[in-house]
Amino acid sequence: MKKLIAFLLCALMVVSMFAGCAPANDGPGKNTYNLNTVKEGYLTVITSPDYAPYEFYALDANKTPTLAGFDMALAKYIADYLGLTLEVVPMDFNGIVGEMGAGKADLALAGLSPDPDRLLKMDFSDCYYEGKQAFITVSSKASMFTDLASTNQENVKIAAQTGTIQMDLAAQFSPNAQMTQLTKATDIIAELVSGKLDGAYIEWDVAVAYKQNYPELTIVCEVPYEAEGNVIGVAKGNADLMKYVNEALNKCVDEGTFSQFVATALEQAAGDNYQGLLGEDGKVPETEAESEAGTGAE
Ligand code: ARG
Repeated sequence: MKKLIAFLLCALMVVSMFAGCAPANDGPGKNTYNLNTVKEGYLTVITSPDYAPYEFYALDANKTPTLAGFDMALAKYIADYLGLTLEVVPMDFNGIVGEMGAGKADLALAGLSPDPDRLLKMDFSDCYYEGKQAFITVSSKASMFTDLASTNQENVKIAAQTGTIQMDLAAQFSPNAQMTQLTKATDIIAELVSGKLDGAYIEWDVAVAYKQNYPELTIVCEVPYEAEGNVIGVAKGNADLMKYVNEALNKCVDEGTFSQFVATALEQAAGDNYQGLLGEDGKVPETEAESEAGTGAE
């Protein structure tokens, strides 16, 4: 009998050990509020992980990537609150609005600004972060720019990420400059650092995070933008989902958990990280070509 009990205890230990290791997304959640989602029991969240400290990949000593950033921590918090299993689908930012419009995701957490033009394709949660906008350059070109008006010259080469409100800002404040749109925030930084570009429009905190790895980046000035702050894109017309997402979001902010997410994201953004899409093998691509073949929707 004793032997049997010992055996059963052992078996139980092994089972619970594996339970501890099991990936979080191995089955649907209990769906506490009986919500209608794209995939029953799951919260499908789309993001564009080229945007530290919002969303990016943290790398461990073996260069194994894990999604990180305060948007991703918030996504997990909300999924847990709703009793849903989180499923994150990474893509390039310019795919996000269309994907929401096509009803492919429940939420978009992507450092999203509440641009009223997007309201046709999604609804907006309450604001969860006070982001602001910046015009950036590199230190060797800092003397070209004295203020926002100085960016508006024909000889100035600037860029913004495709599909972002920064494109609108560029058109508004630097209509005479030579404008390029790039799919990834990472490419904007690479082209700035290599001297191909003179300046770029980007979220302030993202500029600060990239600056940790590229100290030559220089913030010229803040850029005024009316629809300030960041929101979550919520599947259009899903009133129940909106209600409970806002409930979770406000709880997370009010109890101070969200500021911890921000602190952790800033720490991880200062460490080894990758910003962009992973290759089909789920690893950090080694070449540009591989990264183009990533899993993002075009
Ligand atoms: N806030 C800007 C917008 O909504 C840019 C967001 C870019 N996000 C990203 N994850 N790359 O248009």
